[in-house]
Amino acid sequence: MEFSLNSPLDMHIHFRQDKMLELVAPLTAKYFAGGVIMPNLVPPVDSIDKLDKYRSEVEQITSPLNFEPYMTLFFRQYKEEELLAAKDKIIGIKLYPAGVTTNSESGISDLKQADSTFRMMQELGIPLLVHGETHGFVMDRESEFISVYQWLAENYPNLRITMEHITTKDAVEFLDRYENVFATVTLQHLLITLNDVAGGLLQPHLFCKPIAKRPEDREALLEAALEAHPKLMFGSDSAPHPVHKKESAGCAAGVFTAPVAIPILVELFEKHNKLENLQTFLSENARRIYKILPPEKTTTLSKQEYTIPVRYGEVVPFRAGETVSWWYKDE
Ligand code: DOR
Ligand code: ZN
Repeated sequence: MEFSLNSPLDMHIHFRQDKMLELVAPLTAKYFAGGVIMPNLVPPVDSIDKLDKYRSEVEQITSPLNFEPYMTLFFRQYKEEELLAAKDKIIGIKLYPAGVTTNSESGISDLKQADSTFRMMQELGIPLLVHGETHGFVMDRESEFISVYQWLAENYPNLRITMEHITTKDAVEFLDRYENVFATVTLQHLLITLNDVAGGLLQPHLFCKPIAKRPEDREALLEAALEAHPKLMFGSDSAPHPVHKKESAGCAAGVFTAPVAIPILVELFEKHNKLENLQTFLSENARRIYKILPPEKTTTLSKQEYTIPVRYGEVVPFRAGETVSWWYKDE
């Protein structure tokens, strides 16, 4: 049996730089038609020069694979001329509250001070992508941030806001409250809860930010994804770290799902008899929400037992060494 997807999109992906970029970017670009490339490099991508440079580094690797990198800038207070120059080069600007995750130290501490940037983004039609977590208790960080989303949605009604990598029932419910609010969800948050991370022996390869939550949260996310909720897009948040940074005291946050995301999604949607909704979740919603036309690409899988490699280079993938029931055709 075969299953094909038309131009699947990953609306949240970490490509990194140098050797890591060379390792991981092809593992997305082979299978996806496009992806939203995160800007949390060291230093962050927060100027047109850095953006141009990073785009060309990415393109060098991805263009032979017929992949469109949708670039982002790292949020700071920008001048109008900077935003005008960036507008046609980016899909949006990614906001990290200062210090909430990997390489976010130069993020924003007081959103109210960024009013003029939000206003200009709204006028210019530049979407705002948000890592929505407070510095509160780890299980409550996303729910606590909902009031910030509400403040943004109400104060900037024409600003398109994407709640990145949502992990809670609260966020799913919030999606329907404001027309200008959208969301991405990862693979791992459809499948795991905190129990899988820390309920038995600690699983560093499942540790990410935001951390996986409760069973009822996962259920709400899964239900929304399986129905291809019109405001929800797939964004893997695939975030590679070398194995020594994961299997260590002070484990880095991030789950590496790039090469395995599509097969595992096919398996999951099939199990729930919802395969007919996967195309919408993986591509159509994003095209409509961001008004993008990705390159034409058909990704075909066949039903076959496949054992996920234990490593890709120095990175351990999600479900390393486990068997999946679908894999890419001819691989
Ligand atoms: O787990 C995460 N890893 N969450 C993020 O927000 C950042 C990412 C990374 O860049 O490693
Ligand atoms: Zn991310």
